[in-house]
Amino acid sequence: MLGRVDRWRTIIEPFRIKSVEPIRLTTVEERAEKLAEAGYNLFNIHADDVLIDLLTDSGTGAMSAEQWAGIQRGDESYAGSPSWYRFLEAVTHLFPFTHVIPTHQGRAAEKILFSVIGGVGKVIPSNTHFDTTRANVEFTGAEAVDCVIPEGRQPSAIHPFKGNMDTDALEAVIRERGAENIPVVFVTVTNNSGGGQPVSLANLRAVRAVCDRYELPLFLDACRFAENAWFIKEREEGWADASILDIVRQMASLADGMTMSGKKDALANIGGWLAMNSDAWAEQCRNLLILTEGFPTYGGLAGRDLEAMAQGLREVIDEDYLRYRIRSTAYLGEALVEAGVPCVQPIGGHAVYLDAAGLLPHIPPLEYPGQALACALYREGGIRGCEIGTVMFGQRPDGSESPAPMELVRLAIPRRVYTQSHIDYVIEVIRWVAERAGELRGMRIVQQPSSLRHFTARFEPL
Ligand SMILES: Cc1ncc(COP(=O)(O)O)c(C=O)c1O
Repeated sequence: MLGRVDRWRTIIEPFRIKSVEPIRLTTVEERAEKLAEAGYNLFNIHADDVLIDLLTDSGTGAMSAEQWAGIQRGDESYAGSPSWYRFLEAVTHLFPFTHVIPTHQGRAAEKILFSVIGGVGKVIPSNTHFDTTRANVEFTGAEAVDCVIPEGRQPSAIHPFKGNMDTDALEAVIRERGAENIPVVFVTVTNNSGGGQPVSLANLRAVRAVCDRYELPLFLDACRFAENAWFIKEREEGWADASILDIVRQMASLADGMTMSGKKDALANIGGWLAMNSDAWAEQCRNLLILTEGFPTYGGLAGRDLEAMAQGLREVIDEDYLRYRIRSTAYLGEALVEAGVPCVQPIGGHAVYLDAAGLLPHIPPLEYPGQALACALYREGGIRGCEIGTVMFGQRPDGSESPAPMELVRLAIPRRVYTQSHIDYVIEVIRWVAERAGELRGMRIVQQPSSLRHFTARFEPL
């Protein structure tokens, strides 16, 4: 028998809207003007001039009525606030690690952890390091190594768990570099840099076995843990009838610690944490926390932020929410694939990645096809996405340029913000642009900083 929701094709949002924010409807002419003023860089566009903002899913979600109630309840005691205890209980209900250290966002947790365990000569393997994780590892002088399965590097390769770690590659790194130089192994769930692709429990278990063989701790970068758990329930044999809570606890039981950005699957606008079982590391991390973030019962946060995360953690494992979340991202991706728009497949949990190289083969990488496509989506429909290609990765430290492995435009979906009709509008705009793809021209950079140029570079259409 079909389930109570699956019987109908329409994805209804499992919430009602109590408070609204207006979207200012702009014209193509207005947006063309804004684009020129912004130097064709979408990071320079005023958010009021964006109709559908798909720049990131981080911290951009809508909070529930219960989260706003929690904000009111937030207790701002410097030490031992009841909000801290509610947060601690919510975290350890899912991730029963011995120590929980609150931080103002995910990268602060990374900075503290790698300051303690990184350093010159150290190597940190992961399936794929997210860019802030890689940057925080490298900042200490350590090396960040990615060991994702080969399918995870190919946009069109279909695999149910494309975020999985290649355990042979992991073992080769450990043997080559020496287990004594590897303080920790990381697994990012879901794998953001690889397209929001999930990691299976079987793979986590296999990684755990390798770690056990070499007596290495395993940490999760757990930003999208609930989305990953939903994919396990849907795709991994033996887990269809398990609760999301049980799957999350299984994931946690295989790890020795985690870093977390509460701006994703804690459904909050700010916040994060670091958790672990090691008493020795936790003591050093707490000392650094006091230096850089704050007292260990609030980290870099207000009590009300801890409340928002505590409540968000209860809501994010709700199956109706997760079904809607993953289905609505897939709905966008599948409609585009059906219309012949090349996308990274299968569609990941939090974003759809358009393959700009596939859509615009007449624009060479050094004329930035992803940037050209992102600008066209903004000009034609007011949609803001993010180039993930040669603009972001092509700049070399010596000032030269080389093409990135892929030319993508990421459309990241904020949680509980846009309705299906917003997404239908996005589909219509992208189809319109794709049908006229041959008319798009490349771009050239007229001004750029020496690193991380995608945030501030200015462009001109060719
Ligand atoms: C996988 C992953 N790890 C870490 C981070 C960093 O988190 P934050 O933005 O809260 O610093 C992000 C943020 O996008 C992420 O996606």
